[in-house]
Amino acid sequence: MRYDTLAISRDGAVTTVTIDRPEALNALNRQVFTDLADCFDRLAVDPDTRAIVLRGAGERAFVAGADIKEMVDMSAAAAVARSWQGMLLYDRIRHQPQPVIASVQGYALGGGMLLAMACDIRVAADSAEFGYPEIRLGIFPGTGGTVLIDRLIGPGTARAISLTGERFPAERAYQLGIVTHLVADEALAAETGRLAELVAGYSPVALRELKAVLNASLELDFETARRTELAAYGRTFASADRVEGMRAFIDKRPPRFEGL
Ligand code: COA
Repeated sequence: MRYDTLAISRDGAVTTVTIDRPEALNALNRQVFTDLADCFDRLAVDPDTRAIVLRGAGERAFVAGADIKEMVDMSAAAAVARSWQGMLLYDRIRHQPQPVIASVQGYALGGGMLLAMACDIRVAADSAEFGYPEIRLGIFPGTGGTVLIDRLIGPGTARAISLTGERFPAERAYQLGIVTHLVADEALAAETGRLAELVAGYSPVALRELKAVLNASLELDFETARRTELAAYGRTFASADRVEGMRAFIDKRPPRFEGL
């Protein structure tokens, strides 16, 4: 896979996707959205990828938001189309069969914070900075940004983050649940790698079904979500990987999950 705006690397069953526009603090332009969508689609059907790490190139930023230079002369219709493209990308990540781990250093602002929040596991370096600065530009986080943050951290603080546009440190993002793991700057790569390898070792069937259930619990009513969970649990229990996982426990050996 070759892209203008992404660098892709593999280490065992872990594929790392790096947004590679450090000169623009990895801002999300049309090409990045297009490349990420294609890349996640291809990885979704790649049996050798069992976990995905998403990061930004350089030391300064994960992603500093949507590309303002590209947006400045855009029509409202084009901006809505771009927002739609962004929402489809965040949906893709949420529905990606493999776990997606955001590895955040530097700025994660606007669409960058949103991109991180769309990931399943979010590891941040101590010096990372978060925020929704869109209000300073005369807009607001329109790519589903107001909705996702509400559900993730609750409406009260989410409202203040959107309305003030102020940046806040990784420690605060961790307290709020915007990031799930907080590490020293120098430990970011190692901790991201450790988590990616950990989840890449689990049953792809169980991971895929679990992600679908976690999505359903956000999107469906209580009873329908529970029934969805039950059906997914049945499919998972019927997998060869489930037999292997339990046999391996009893035999006191590591499991070898085939994804079947
Ligand atoms: N879109 C396009 N370009 C961006 C960008 C964005 N969202 N964020 C940063 N850049 C570019 C800058 O224009 C600059 O390019 P230049 O050297 O050609 O002028 C380069 O990245 C470095 O950014 P700079 O502003 O010089 O760095 P800084 O350390 O002074 O400030 C930030 C860093 C992140 C605080 C600042 O760049 C910023 O506020 N960016 C916009 C964040 C934002 O509003 N995001 C939401 C967009 S909807």
